[in-house]
Amino acid sequence: MRVLVVGGGGREHSLCWAISASPLCDALYCAPGNAGIAQVATCIDIAAENVDAIVALAQKEKIDFVVIGPEGPLVLGLADKLRAAKIKCFGPSALAARLEGSKGFTKDLCAKYNIPTAAYSRFTEMEPALEYLRLQGAPIVVKADGLAAGKGVTVATTLDEAERAVRECLEANRFGDAGASVVIEAVLEGEEASFFALCDGETALPLLAAQDHKRVGDSDTGPNTGGMGAYSPAPVFTAEVHRQVMDRIIRPTLAAMTAEGSPFQGVLFAGLMIGPKGPQLIEFNTRFGDPECQVLMLRLKSDLLPALIASADGALKHFDLRWREETAITVVMAAEGYPGDYVKNTEIRGLDAAAQVDGVTIFHAGTKTEDGKILANGGRVLNVCAIGTDVRQARQRAYDAIARIDWPQGFCRSDIAWRALLKSTG
Ligand code: AMP
Ligand code: GLY
Repeated sequence: MRVLVVGGGGREHSLCWAISASPLCDALYCAPGNAGIAQVATCIDIAAENVDAIVALAQKEKIDFVVIGPEGPLVLGLADKLRAAKIKCFGPSALAARLEGSKGFTKDLCAKYNIPTAAYSRFTEMEPALEYLRLQGAPIVVKADGLAAGKGVTVATTLDEAERAVRECLEANRFGDAGASVVIEAVLEGEEASFFALCDGETALPLLAAQDHKRVGDSDTGPNTGGMGAYSPAPVFTAEVHRQVMDRIIRPTLAAMTAEGSPFQGVLFAGLMIGPKGPQLIEFNTRFGDPECQVLMLRLKSDLLPALIASADGALKHFDLRWREETAITVVMAAEGYPGDYVKNTEIRGLDAAAQVDGVTIFHAGTKTEDGKILANGGRVLNVCAIGTDVRQARQRAYDAIARIDWPQGFCRSDIAWRALLKSTG
């Protein structure tokens, strides 16, 4: 079968890597892809959000199955347009992608169907929002309703900060339409984890949990990023937590979406707070996490492609996936300046030597090839991943590989998986 993966980051490299290993895959395309993806797929330079051009590409290349990586094209209705063109695809409809595209939609759904999440209220006007803030007091969380490239959430420790966040959305229009409505919610206490389930509208097939590191600096300091590293398994995600998340959050959400007339197909990514009240939902995403996907792909023993097809076909009921027991980790290497303005077009050397380290796989997140050289052209640039018998070994391998990478303008956090390491040593 002929497969097209949409996107061009580390998540899509890991998906292409897994799909290219499938005996079912005869030809693999990726739009736009990157220098690493080009090693396993034919890259076509079309932006993921250019949904009409993606549909045209799928038609031109007689693609049998499209796998949509990022949220942007999902919210823009790429899955709907592909299905209208009779092209099978993995990823939710625009209506189902509201679970990620509108925080207010998700909060209202949780309230209606009794899915555990932080207490909240929604506002489009300044005055009532400010009044609510004053009533609730700090700390408190302010969220732009729509997609805001990870910048729309403020966990405010003071009322001043919360008020500023509301003003940025409702008055200053910082996020455009995405911030024309805000959710204000209570702060949840506990430890965060990401959990993933493949869904076919009716059945949810649990994948794995992972933890990522959102802050740019060691010891979780500095500004938020798209994720500086991840690992799986996540020790906080016990079998009991898993059961609770499936019973109280994932299955009820799937049933709710069907009842609301927009069944969910694709991967449901629950951002969770695991605290004294059990797991609570922070937010849903409607795609794989980046960089969580990279560690999931390293732990997956089964063929990924039939599972994604079963999700698209409504055939997950009797499906099963097998996973490696080992720990997988990914350390993100980013370009100097990230998550602010970062340097571009700097050369990266030593990738082959780094990939020689036992258990190591390197996924590219923001690279291109020029005159036979690998150049960085994104904020997050490389995912140096490793698998090991435990978190200590996996982590050692990843950092050994990083030591072999010659890229003076790159940096990484030196403490990825510190929580898991702490737990493994007691
Ligand atoms: P989100 O974009 O909704 O994932 O939010 C980004 C980050 O903000 C999350 O990963 C959490 O660290 C934090 N966050 C969001 N909502 C809450 C909440 N209600 N309580 C505590 N932290 C939160
Ligand atoms: N790593 C978090 C995300 O993909 O949203």
